[in-house]
Amino acid sequence: MNDHEVPAGPEGPQGPGGPDGSAPLTVLGAGVPRLEGWDKTEGSARYAAEWTPPGCAYGRPVPATVARGRITGIDATDALAMEGALAVLTHENAPRITEPDDATLDVLQDEWVPHRGWHVALAVAETPETAQAMAEAVRIEYAEEPHDVRIHDDHPGLYQPDEANGGAAGATSRGDVESELAAAHHTVDVLYAIPPLHNHPMEPHAATAEWTEGPEGARLVAHDSSQGATPVRDTLAALFSLDTARVTVVSEHVGGGFGNKGTPRPHVVLAAMASRHTGRPVKVVLPRRHLPFVTGHRAPTLQRVRLGADAEGRLTAVDHDVVTHTSTVKEFVEQAAVPARTMYASTASRTRHRVAALDVPTPSWMRAPGEAPGMYALEAAMDELAVELGMDPIELRLRNEPDVEPQTGKPFSSRRLADCLREGARLFGWADRDPRPGVRRSGDLLIGTGVAASTYPALLAPSTATAEARDDGTFHVRINATDIGTGARTVLAQVAAEALGVGPQAVRIDIGNSDLPDAPLAGGSSGTASWGWAVHAACTELRTSGSSVATVDTTADVQAREDYARHAFGAVFAEVQADTVTGEVRTRRLLGVFAAGRILNARLARSQFLGGMTMGLGMALTEHSSIDRATGGFVETDLASYHVPSCADVPEQFEAHWLAEEDPHLTPVGGKGIGEIGIVGTAAAFTNALHHATGVRHRTLPHTPDRVG
Ligand code: MOS
Repeated sequence: MNDHEVPAGPEGPQGPGGPDGSAPLTVLGAGVPRLEGWDKTEGSARYAAEWTPPGCAYGRPVPATVARGRITGIDATDALAMEGALAVLTHENAPRITEPDDATLDVLQDEWVPHRGWHVALAVAETPETAQAMAEAVRIEYAEEPHDVRIHDDHPGLYQPDEANGGAAGATSRGDVESELAAAHHTVDVLYAIPPLHNHPMEPHAATAEWTEGPEGARLVAHDSSQGATPVRDTLAALFSLDTARVTVVSEHVGGGFGNKGTPRPHVVLAAMASRHTGRPVKVVLPRRHLPFVTGHRAPTLQRVRLGADAEGRLTAVDHDVVTHTSTVKEFVEQAAVPARTMYASTASRTRHRVAALDVPTPSWMRAPGEAPGMYALEAAMDELAVELGMDPIELRLRNEPDVEPQTGKPFSSRRLADCLREGARLFGWADRDPRPGVRRSGDLLIGTGVAASTYPALLAPSTATAEARDDGTFHVRINATDIGTGARTVLAQVAAEALGVGPQAVRIDIGNSDLPDAPLAGGSSGTASWGWAVHAACTELRTSGSSVATVDTTADVQAREDYARHAFGAVFAEVQADTVTGEVRTRRLLGVFAAGRILNARLARSQFLGGMTMGLGMALTEHSSIDRATGGFVETDLASYHVPSCADVPEQFEAHWLAEEDPHLTPVGGKGIGEIGIVGTAAAFTNALHHATGVRHRTLPHTPDRVG
């Protein structure tokens, strides 16, 4: 990575304050370093697994070794005979919980095993080593049933869901796609496939729970690695029939999540059960090998895209059909056909999801659910159409810019996709590109460039926040926001400082604890916008009201917003080399240009964009999971076999730029959210570049040597 690369934020990476400290870094947009950066560097920042209350015991889950069936016998004799053994929780003795809305949390309640890796017991001991040894010594017998873990596009279980993830309609239709396709001058009809993908945050899921009984009843405190302590608190309160005031969940520092910490996960339920059962604080740290089975995955998708265009390249038909799987535990439908409802003008359009409930672990959110896989297929298909038309792929996209959001007819609050494409083309040197595929050779290498568009919705949720003026002239802002490594804490301090008219050093910000004012989770790239509005409003009210404390709730403000289609847009450019001997594809250059409203911290924004694009690089070239049809389990369950891009995988020339975008229809703070858009479109840019390099269309991700060679 090029650290001297200056992102095209209007002020550069340091913002108006400058890197030399010549002026105070007070203004929103400045590249203020992470407030907790030093704490993380020296190790004093504590993550969920690092809370060890006096008397803490350790829990180790036991994963099911069958893909579908019923527990018929449990023998914990050997495990319980170990020195330091405290308990083995199973469905026979675990505390009963209220049936959860999210059935993935309904652990140790009955003998049914819905998929391999489902937690069927929890060993509890004085030390983590003993708990692990116990977990391995628990003998469980099953009555196995035949399982089905393979999705395909004529699977008999396929049905059309009413809703896909995020509340998106399962299907949409506008105009007559079939007749437009039949009449089109040019058509593309292609199938793309993406395997299951795993989030694999650096910090595996962990929780320490402490259940105490007092004169006022039970009280539960949990330190959990989560993207939102408020929803975890509410869930635990419901499961254990406690008043929310009797439950506290702390998620002060979180080592990433990418969506798989966006909902409560079974480990925190197990920790709470074990603490209640043993009367001790109990810590449950999931080994990485458990993550793929119980914390979600990006479901595999088979996507058929049909495009029709007139002689000038204007789209007459867009048809996006998505086939995916969910589990028998709960319905989660990766909403991959959704971005096609927003991207391009067309005479007719149809989008559809079909899903089958298989005996697989339950899929869930992974960075840009829907947009990441859906824009892979749509943007690769657009490239195929451009080749079919003999037209530059940027020109094709510019020609199909819509005046309003195609599916809804709503005006865009702002849309600078065309500017992103043009600015990216300028920075990348696109004008010099020879469009012919397979003609740039350097020794054994074939070299090519590709482009794809990117988009992500600007989502928003209501939040509360409190601001307080202290006698010493400082200000104390309190909100249960979560910083999953993005720098949210820092940005919120900047928002507060600007609203108060003070420097960030005068602001103390408390986040990551459910006893703080309620706030939505860090997800859907909506955190900073949602929390930022509440912090801005609380600080503004404090400054203008003259009182010493101000508390706000943005629910009414959020509901009163005018009806616009709000989305961030971007353009990603990639240059790749394909080794004609080994089949290895490597990145030579990667560039993203984004328009995402006001950028609130140049340094952190750059990291978010580059991080997202790196994840897109992984999706394109290295990351894949496979489900073993014999065992029903994921094969790649560690970071050796599931290859997340490392520093050696990213190119020297790796840049994120952004355009200034004033959008009056967002929030008073002005950002659209940037956590997810970087991954969107990136895999398509690589795929299109790989075609340009080799002249061969590779439509199944990732482009590993065994496929490309
Ligand atoms: Mo993100 S997948 O919405 O946490």
